[in-house]
Amino acid sequence: MRINKIALENFRNYETQEINLEENINVFYGNNAQGKTNILEALYFCAFGRSFRTHKDAEMIKFENETAKIKVDFEKNSREQSIEITLNKKEKKQIKLNEIRVNRNSELLGNLNLVLFSPDDTVVLKESPASRRKFLDILISQLRPNYAHVLGKYNKILENRNSVIKSQRVETIEVWDEQLAEAAEKIYEYRVEYISKLQKYIENISPSLTNSKENLVIKYITSFKSKEEYTNLLKQNLRNDLYRGYTTSGIHRDDFELLVNGKELNLYGSQGQHRTAILALKFAELEIIREEINENPILLLDDITSELDLERISQIFKKISGFQVLITCTDANILRNIESLTKEIKLYKINSGRVE
Ligand SMILES: Nc1ncnc2c1ncn2[C@@H]1O[C@H](COP(=O)(O)OP(=O)(O)O)[C@@H](O)[C@H]1O
Ligand SMILES: [Mg+2]
Repeated sequence: MRINKIALENFRNYETQEINLEENINVFYGNNAQGKTNILEALYFCAFGRSFRTHKDAEMIKFENETAKIKVDFEKNSREQSIEITLNKKEKKQIKLNEIRVNRNSELLGNLNLVLFSPDDTVVLKESPASRRKFLDILISQLRPNYAHVLGKYNKILENRNSVIKSQRVETIEVWDEQLAEAAEKIYEYRVEYISKLQKYIENISPSLTNSKENLVIKYITSFKSKEEYTNLLKQNLRNDLYRGYTTSGIHRDDFELLVNGKELNLYGSQGQHRTAILALKFAELEIIREEINENPILLLDDITSELDLERISQIFKKISGFQVLITCTDANILRNIESLTKEIKLYKINSGRVE
């Protein structure tokens, strides 16, 4: 697939800006804080209905304005499509897919497929389980809209169960346990399926990233085994739950870990191993999406020259010929040293919220 045009209105530091993209490699360069990442954020927002930098949509509206608009024109399955999002400080955001109003975020997901490589990616591996669950949730929900739906349902049921627990009046708790287990089972099945897909691709990719020295394995960590065992677990943990005031076990606590040659990356991995692992994970994400949608997703590479050495960057570009890529960097000259990059590159200079 490919993006043809991005139009921004009062988005971040852009007033009105149209950007026509090339089919291959689009490089946005310029000094810091000029608006390079903002362009990637706008696209990501159209793909997922949320930013990768903030939970507060209103932050993306240009200072001193009330509304903002992003429109992306793209081609998928040889069909011209568009996504338009209007942000309003006082109202809910409005999403249009091919000019038609979309009411649920889960209906937006999966239309514009993109994979973001960002300097913050290592956070996924180093920080809390929540960031790893988010990685999984975003991957699965763009390919299986039903996943996002069931996950939303699970969270509602969990909220209800938690308020019952807080009230300490647990006569009705079994009703919630039953429903929670039902939703949990579906989510568990999706996660098992996608962790094993990730494993398949990580296995293929990691030897080429490490000169075959390292063997990388992804492992799903969950307390869920089956619906029955989970309802039993909820019963067993009820006293603890009441003491703590929330539901302590379930797929909302799921996690995954990466093992390098059998050892936990998180505990024993070097910085270089972390970088390789995150690249392997991202490439696996890319391959899964490509396999399922039968097209190349769009790649967004934010500031990769700041995080990765030239060798790793070259490895990236060897693997992604044929993709439409948007790159941001401060110094476009670095990219000139990469052999496989000499073909069609379009350069855009970004200067205080304007594309020159
Ligand atoms: N809501 C907003 N309104 C106006 N300017 C904003 C808004 N949010 C961020 N900015 C400006 O955007 C710039 C940062 O943009 P960004 O794309 O992250 O920069 P970079 O080019 O370093 O990637 C900063 O100058 C910041 O002040
Ligand atoms: Mg940036």
